[in-house]
Amino acid sequence: MKKRICILLSFVLLFIMTGCRNHAAESQKTSNSAPKSEQAAAESKILVVYFSATGTTRPLAENTAKILNADLHEIIAKDPYTEADLAYNTNGRADQEQNDPSARPAISGKVENMEKYDTIILGYPIWHGQAPRIISTFLESYDFSGKTIVPFCTSHSSGIGSSADNLHPLCSEQTKWKPGKRFEAGTSVKKIKKWLDHISSSYPKIQS
Ligand SMILES: Cc1cc2nc3c(=O)[nH]c(=O)nc-3n(C[C@H](O)[C@H](O)[C@H](O)COP(=O)(O)O)c2cc1C
Repeated sequence: MKKRICILLSFVLLFIMTGCRNHAAESQKTSNSAPKSEQAAAESKILVVYFSATGTTRPLAENTAKILNADLHEIIAKDPYTEADLAYNTNGRADQEQNDPSARPAISGKVENMEKYDTIILGYPIWHGQAPRIISTFLESYDFSGKTIVPFCTSHSSGIGSSADNLHPLCSEQTKWKPGKRFEAGTSVKKIKKWLDHISSSYPKIQS
């Protein structure tokens, strides 16, 4: 009888010890791994890039990046646009740049590791029916061969018109372009999701 109790106790002890070891290994695994958001960002192959002179395009870009768990990059002008620069139909700086197809306003900073992205979602305001020239500067600064660019814009009232199509020649022929979309100021997250779902139905790399 004593022997049986001893054997039983040994089994119980072994069981408890194995359980403890597994638990310790499991918690070590959890504490070693990076937070979920960092892991997702590391795996992200989508970059949301935007230029926003007066803050209308910015929240759309931010929400798009949040929905897709994508990285976000703001195009910042080296020489910031003042209110006077942006007053349109005054022949101010923005008007002059839009009138000059060769204008390439300088950008401050750059996208690190552009090569890791396969999809670029590109947001900009409409300036005289077109993308601001700083978008041209951006597109000519990288090689987008093999990547897909998905343009979107905000405007006072104009549609996206020819603004996105006119950006195509600035990139290599190996760049793939999705049709662009115009949004109004303050577009809801629900509407952005609907757009992303629509794109993803023809382009599964974008999953909202
Ligand atoms: C120089 C300039 C030209 C503009 N041209 C147009 C235009 O042709 N059509 C339009 O609907 N809105 C036009 N707008 C208004 C902007 O497209 C609109 O306010 C946009 O949402 C601003 O985005 P942001 O705040 O992200 O810069 C223009 C604004 C500026 C500064």
